[in-house]
Amino acid sequence: MEQPNKGTLPAAEIVCEEVTKQFPIAYGKAKTPGGAKRPPEEAVHLAVDHVSFTVEAGSLVVLLGPSGCGKTTLLKMVNRLYEATSGKIWIGGTEIHDLHATELRRHIGYVIQQVGLFPHMRIADNVSVVPRLLGWERDKTEERVRYLMDLVGLPPAYLARYPRQLSGGEQQRVGLVRALAADPAILLMDEPFAAIDAINRERLQGELLEIQRKVNKTILFVTHDVEEAFRLADQIVVMRSGKLIQYGTPLEIVTRPQNEFVQELVGAQNMLRRLSLIDVRSILEARLSWASENSAASLQTNHLAEIHPEDDLRSTLSLLLDSGGDALRVVDRSGREIGKITFADLRLTLARNAPKIQEKAGDELSDR
Ligand SMILES: Nc1ncnc2c1ncn2[C@@H]1O[C@H](COP(=O)(O)OP(=O)(O)OP(=O)(O)O)[C@@H](O)[C@H]1O
Ligand SMILES: [Mg+2]
Repeated sequence: MEQPNKGTLPAAEIVCEEVTKQFPIAYGKAKTPGGAKRPPEEAVHLAVDHVSFTVEAGSLVVLLGPSGCGKTTLLKMVNRLYEATSGKIWIGGTEIHDLHATELRRHIGYVIQQVGLFPHMRIADNVSVVPRLLGWERDKTEERVRYLMDLVGLPPAYLARYPRQLSGGEQQRVGLVRALAADPAILLMDEPFAAIDAINRERLQGELLEIQRKVNKTILFVTHDVEEAFRLADQIVVMRSGKLIQYGTPLEIVTRPQNEFVQELVGAQNMLRRLSLIDVRSILEARLSWASENSAASLQTNHLAEIHPEDDLRSTLSLLLDSGGDALRVVDRSGREIGKITFADLRLTLARNAPKIQEKAGDELSDR
């Protein structure tokens, strides 16, 4: 089905500059060791601490970090459910305070773990709330909703159901339809799949990537699930105690963790994860070593299993092990052979991408 709404909002860039959120501590309760009340200026908690980064238009950025590190708080400052204590946020070049909060939120879809569908309203009404608020014509809304239901793999018959008549995963899909209904430029997603079983979570992640490819939104996605972050992200923001610790592509984070915290968080020692982030094409392009090129060239080419340039090295390794051979033929979509991959290539690639911690001794951040 074709996207029915032409002339819709383009994906927009999000820029955060020194964004900070202090929450007051109820200092009546927070006593100093001597028993006196803390002075008010100390009685604040920095939930988000001078965080700066840019989410490119049309990309999917994951905020990753342990519980309480400030992910939700940061997300809620983007749609002004929280006001930042200091710092600035721009969306598509507009500072978020140059719009009314309600106007701002119309350009931002918001998906949370506790889907938050209205229980007494049918799915059709649940997902049309924002288009109706915007005064869209009924036909346009219906067409858009049907398009999105199809996109997330729900039959149109579900539109007549109530939320309680849907499974958790189906409700989460409806939550996504609702967030996308008015075609916002931006999608904020706060652990949307956390409450869903592993199999359905993986399915939903795949669908989100597919949807992102088709509707091209700028997505800021919160998780503390490292696997989910690596599956979805174009870029990952690693946070700890309110601070941005590292911002980079999944491969950068795994191969060049900023410090031991990041290394531990993402399990940068994990060979399989590193392999899953590199594709076969990059090996062919890098022509890693004469030795492996030559040994590949001298291999019998008959009866070798085949792999494609866009496959990752983790699948390459399993196929190599399964096939019992020393090499695989790399073939493009038309079946033409464009090179070979050997165990030696995998070993060299791993050695090249071994994790190297970035920070110098003494730089390390301490826990609060
Ligand atoms: N409304 C609030 N008032 C006071 N403190 C708050 C408020 N909301 C969050 N906090 C505190 O700010 C910090 C960051 O909270 P936040 O909800 O952003 O964490 P998170 O990274 O989303 O964690 P989780 O992974 O558990 O959802 C926590 O220490 C939390 O207790
Ligand atoms: Mg949270």
